[in-house]
Amino acid sequence: MSSNQKSHQKHEEKKWNKASWRTFPIKQHPTYKDSKAIESVQKELESYPPLVFAKEADSLKEKLAKASKGQAFLLQGGDCAESFSQFSANGIRDMFKVILQMSAILTFAASCPIIKVGRLAGQFAKPRSSDTETINGVSYPSYRGDLINSQELDKREPDPARLLKGYHQSASTLNLLRAFSQGGFANLEQVHSWNLSFVKDNFGKKYEKIANDIAKSLAFMRACGIDIANSRQLKEVSFYTSHEALVLNYEEALTRQDSLSNQWYDCSAHFLWIGERTRGIDEGHIEFLRGVKNPLGVKIGPNASSSDVLRICDILNPQNEPGRLTLIVRMGANVIGEKFPALLRGVEADGRAVLWSCDPMHGNTKVASSGYKTRDFNDIVREIESFFDIHKAQGSIAGGIHLEMTGANVTECIGGTQEINEEGLSKSYQTQCDPRLNATQALELSFMLSEILAKRDKN
Ligand code: PEP
Ligand code: CO
Repeated sequence: MSSNQKSHQKHEEKKWNKASWRTFPIKQHPTYKDSKAIESVQKELESYPPLVFAKEADSLKEKLAKASKGQAFLLQGGDCAESFSQFSANGIRDMFKVILQMSAILTFAASCPIIKVGRLAGQFAKPRSSDTETINGVSYPSYRGDLINSQELDKREPDPARLLKGYHQSASTLNLLRAFSQGGFANLEQVHSWNLSFVKDNFGKKYEKIANDIAKSLAFMRACGIDIANSRQLKEVSFYTSHEALVLNYEEALTRQDSLSNQWYDCSAHFLWIGERTRGIDEGHIEFLRGVKNPLGVKIGPNASSSDVLRICDILNPQNEPGRLTLIVRMGANVIGEKFPALLRGVEADGRAVLWSCDPMHGNTKVASSGYKTRDFNDIVREIESFFDIHKAQGSIAGGIHLEMTGANVTECIGGTQEINEEGLSKSYQTQCDPRLNATQALELSFMLSEILAKRDKN
C-alpha cells in the first residue's frame, strides 16, 4: 500500500454502514427543509424491491476486469440527465437501438467484446457549478435534476416526493430494457432493424453495410449447422444500468444486504459513479460508496493529481480488485495531453488495477454565441485520440468510453460530418442539462472509435 494511509483513517476509523456518510461533510447534496417528509420517503423506498440483483453487479464487475486488461471494451452512454417530462417508451427504445448499433460496429470492426452500460434508469440528479442562477435580475436556486427539483423557476425547492417518482420511472425503464435485451429485440438477426429511420445517409449507409456483413456471417454459421436460433449469445444481450450516486438518501434506501453473500449492494443500478465535484477524499460520497460491492466509477478532471487518485483507490478499492474501480477521465481536448500522462504514470507505477475510461464530453463544454451550451464533435474526437495515444505511450490500456448521447435527432453538439453549426443548434435543442451527441453523431463516433480500437488490439 502506498503512502496514503493517513488520509483514509477518517473513513476507516469508523465502521461503514449505509448511513455512515451522514457524519461526513458533503457537497452538492440537497437539503430537505421538511425532515419528516424526507424520512418518510426514505422509509417508503426502503420497503420497495431492489431494482437490480447483486449477482448482476458481480457479473458486470467481472466483465470490467476483462476490459481493464484489454480483453473487452466498456461502452457507457446515455442522457446527461433523464427527465420526468420527456419519459417515453420510444425514447428508451431509440437510445437502446443506438447503443446496440454502436456495439455492433465496435464488435465487428475491432473483434472486441463490448460491455454495454446505459446512463439511464436512474440518471436524474445533477451536480451544478453554481448554487443559484440569475434570470432577469432575480436569483433562483439552480435546477439539480428531476430527482431533486423542477426546471420551473417557482419549484426549485428540493422535493422528497421526487425520489419516489425517480424510483418508479427507473423501474419501468429497466423493465422495458430487460424485455428488449432478452425478448428478441436485441437478437443479432435483427441487426438491420436497429437503424433509426432518420439516419439514412452517410453513417446509416455505412451501418447497413456492417449489418449486411453480420447477416452474411450468421447465414454462413446457419449453413454450417450452428443452431443460431437457440444461441443465447446471439439472441440476447447483457445490458447494465448506471448513474451518478449523488442523492445519498435515495442510494441509502436502495442499499440492501445480499442474502447469498451477506455483502451490501446499492441496488439502484449495477454501476454507480462519483462525479468530479463530489470525489473529495474525506466526504460523504466516497464514504457511502466504499461500503457497497458494486463496480464503481470516479470522474477524474484536470486538477486531480496522481496522489489524489491513489488515495481514492486506497479507499474504494483497498483489495486492488480488478473491475471494481473505473477511472473516468474528463480533462478536455486541450488539457489532457498536458495533465493526463503524469497522473497515469503515477497510478500505473503503483500497480493499481483500474479500468481507464474516457469521458470526452465534460471537459469540452462551451457556450455558443447564441447562448446554447454545446460541444464540438472535433474536440470530442481529439480528446479520445489523445486518450488512446497517451495510453499507448505509457503501455497501459484505454479500456472504455463514457458518452452523453441520445437516440433522438437532436441538434445539441456542433460539428461532425452532419455539420451542425451554432446557428443550427436551436433547430432541435432538447436536453435537460448538457448537450448530447445525436444518433448520427454517435454512429460517426463509433466508426472512428472502431478504427482506433482495432489498432489498439493489433499492437
Ligand atoms: C456528468 O457525468 O453528467 C457530470 C456532471 O460529470 P462530471 O462530474 O465529470 O462533471
Ligand atoms: Co453531463
